[in-house]
Amino acid sequence: MASIGFDHRLAVYDLTASLAHVEMLGRQRIISGRDRGRLVRGLAALLGRVKRGVRLPAAEDIHYAIEKALFKAAGPAAGRMHTARSRNDQTVTAFRLYVRDQIDVLSGSLEDLSAAFVQLAEKNRRAVMPGYTHLQPGQPILAAHHFLAYAWMFQRDRERLADVRRRTNVLPLGAAALAGTTFPIDREWVARRLGFSGVIENSIDAVSDRDFLAEFLAALSLVMAHLSRFCEELMIWSNPCFAFVTVADPFVTGSSIMPQKRNPDMAELVRGKTGRVYGSLTAVLTLLKAQPLAYNRDLQEDKPPVFDAVDAVKASLDVTAPMVRSLRINADKMRAACRLGYILATDLADALVRRGMPFRQAHGVVAAAVNYAQERDLPLEDIPLPVLRKFSPLFGTWVHEVLSVDGAVAARKSRGGTAPAEVSRQIQRLRRLLRKK
Ligand code: ARG
Repeated sequence: MASIGFDHRLAVYDLTASLAHVEMLGRQRIISGRDRGRLVRGLAALLGRVKRGVRLPAAEDIHYAIEKALFKAAGPAAGRMHTARSRNDQTVTAFRLYVRDQIDVLSGSLEDLSAAFVQLAEKNRRAVMPGYTHLQPGQPILAAHHFLAYAWMFQRDRERLADVRRRTNVLPLGAAALAGTTFPIDREWVARRLGFSGVIENSIDAVSDRDFLAEFLAALSLVMAHLSRFCEELMIWSNPCFAFVTVADPFVTGSSIMPQKRNPDMAELVRGKTGRVYGSLTAVLTLLKAQPLAYNRDLQEDKPPVFDAVDAVKASLDVTAPMVRSLRINADKMRAACRLGYILATDLADALVRRGMPFRQAHGVVAAAVNYAQERDLPLEDIPLPVLRKFSPLFGTWVHEVLSVDGAVAARKSRGGTAPAEVSRQIQRLRRLLRKK
């Protein structure tokens, strides 16, 4: 039941934390200056070797492997490193350092992805497309407006990770097994040395808390939910029935039998990986349930789901950003799709309201007109005016001005709406947020 097979990923973090620990032991005169010097040199040499990819000796877990290697590098002084410390506070210290690092990397990737959506919006400012509800045509929108919705989602994901980082970035070391230690340690000094914002106040909580992992995985699950929704849309939009977008060659694959195929495999893989990340969240939540305080060996099982989720999210972000950047928008097809599904019906109803009719009544009048048109397979603008007037005498020649896709988009000037000026405002705000780290 060894964990070395997966927790070797923590080697750099464990060594970093151990360096701070032995320095503190020296400062506090818990170990001699000589031993402190031997340990620091030995740990620093090991850190260099680990960074170069040299393998550590076989052991139950990464912490024992490092101690074993340290005996070789520093001699018997290595036996003093574990003073005032337990693997219980040691392992979770290394894990918090790891998660903090991953948050910083992922946050950078999310920023890049957000920027890719803003660029896509800027490059395609004029394209109009149907906006959907229930995947049925709803109202016309700017394609840029749709892309920016994703930029906002990934901005929120960054904020969520920043919030998780705050609660992750506190030091458990010094809790020892669970009750604290009899040695005069200086936890605040270690915290500062490792860049933690402070120490965990309760030693029992320090070794048993894994909330930061559940929060981290919940934040990652939402990242994947957002990626998966976008990828699903790419699959729909690149289907020839839509043909709104062309996914670039590196992100599609052919078929071994059907020569015409351009399957959006990368998008499908991202959608598929979403399930793995949700699985990791469920694994950690289930792991925590019903564990008595404080440390239990169950907690060793917290690592594989986190490593797996981090790998999946990184791979997904790394493929999605270039996929977004290389997306070709087929504005003609998008505009043509606006002729389907009577997407200007709301605009017609709104126009009746502006001429004095209560909205609920206008809704019924336009529904009747749409039914009439649908039965005859006509667009709304081809219903003869005398027929329209039978539905309501308020109809007039103005109908043709109202039945314009660009007019409908331009008219939605309400804050956050799809009118070009509002979309430009969003682009500016996002640009500012992306510059500010
Ligand atoms: N490898 C263990 C983990 O990841 C280290 C802590 C072991 N502590 C113990 N008392 N058995 O949780």
